[in-house]
Amino acid sequence: MPGGSFVAGSARPQPPTVGLSLSGAAPPPANSPHPAAVPLLAVDHLSVEFRTRHGVVRALERVRFFVRRGETVGIVGESGSGKSVTAYALMGILDPAARVTEGRAVFGGLDLLHASRQELEAYRGRELAMIFQSPRTALNPIRTVGRQIEDVLIRHQTVPRAKVRDRVLELLTLVRIPDPDARAHTYPFEMSGGMCQRVMIALAIAASPALLIADEPTTGLDVTTQAAILDLLGDLARTNGMATVLISHDLGLIAERCDRIVVMHAGHVVEEAPARALFSAPRHPYTARLLASTPRAGAKLADLVPIPGGVPDLRGELSPCRYRARCERAAPECDEPPLPRTEIAPEHLVACRRPL
Ligand SMILES: Nc1ncnc2c1ncn2[C@@H]1O[C@H](COP(=O)(O)OP(=O)(O)O)[C@@H](O)[C@H]1O
Ligand code: SF4
Ligand SMILES: [Mg+2]
Repeated sequence: MPGGSFVAGSARPQPPTVGLSLSGAAPPPANSPHPAAVPLLAVDHLSVEFRTRHGVVRALERVRFFVRRGETVGIVGESGSGKSVTAYALMGILDPAARVTEGRAVFGGLDLLHASRQELEAYRGRELAMIFQSPRTALNPIRTVGRQIEDVLIRHQTVPRAKVRDRVLELLTLVRIPDPDARAHTYPFEMSGGMCQRVMIALAIAASPALLIADEPTTGLDVTTQAAILDLLGDLARTNGMATVLISHDLGLIAERCDRIVVMHAGHVVEEAPARALFSAPRHPYTARLLASTPRAGAKLADLVPIPGGVPDLRGELSPCRYRARCERAAPECDEPPLPRTEIAPEHLVACRRPL
């Protein structure tokens, strides 16, 4: 995981020089589509490779999905399916060994994958923010949490200098940190994991971004704190009209909190659907297996069925369908490239030759 948060770590952004202002200052040209029809984020054919000593890892292949303004989109899949690499590619924080080989990710008119450093810095933190799974390591250990939030507010100039202190307390209150006046003076190591994650969220929303990417934001927290953090993210998204990409390996955890869900397996998007449709009638064999392996309210442990096999090695030859070796429905036709991506119901897409 990269060190530091992009809310806390990037240089003070200049006003974006390309694309639309997400705050809506510039009117769109007369012949452009209605703003509601344009997604906030449109990721298209995103492919990422890592060059390693042991070969090229094809971590993402032609990943496609979109996020509308204000909606919550879940990205789910087992560990190693490419969720974090997708998020890092969008934030421009991929490991130096990584290369984006193909694709676009258009956010407010700017292609994040081909933007200059200056353009990205203008967006990060202000319009697009991210929280990580280890808040304690992402926070600055030698600066009080109040100072860290002040730094972000000053960098983004979201409030006049004289109001910065008030806004720090307001943000700490918003993320439901008790006794914010006293807590502003504490260091991350003096706080619990759950409290640190709340501070990360305060940093992320300080500049009221249009999109927040939350990568496994509750890993390592106890069940009650997990629910509280996810409720908090949901409430903040609703009140601020903020879109959220909620990344998790745990479908059960985020299921009820998402409008739509994108299922990833081995660097492919295998299914994408409104949350309800995905749960009631999954069409990709992997999604069905993922659901069967997810604990649900009232279910017994014995009812859970593990997914056979593991995520394939992403080096060397791969079948057009990367689930092929694990799939009980596999047939010779599954080896014919390219793997189709079919819209089997409105906004319900599946990448499979023999969907359920
Ligand atoms: N720095 C790296 N070098 C080589 N391979 C990497 C690197 N980072 C991620 N990968 C590979 O990319 C794939 C996707 O990883 P990741 O996005 O972290 O999965 P997830 O977040 O879904 O658990 C995995 O196969 C992983 O091994
Ligand atoms: S394409 Fe074939 S192997 Fe792949 S998930 Fe569909 S049925 Fe299974
Ligand atoms: Mg990850």
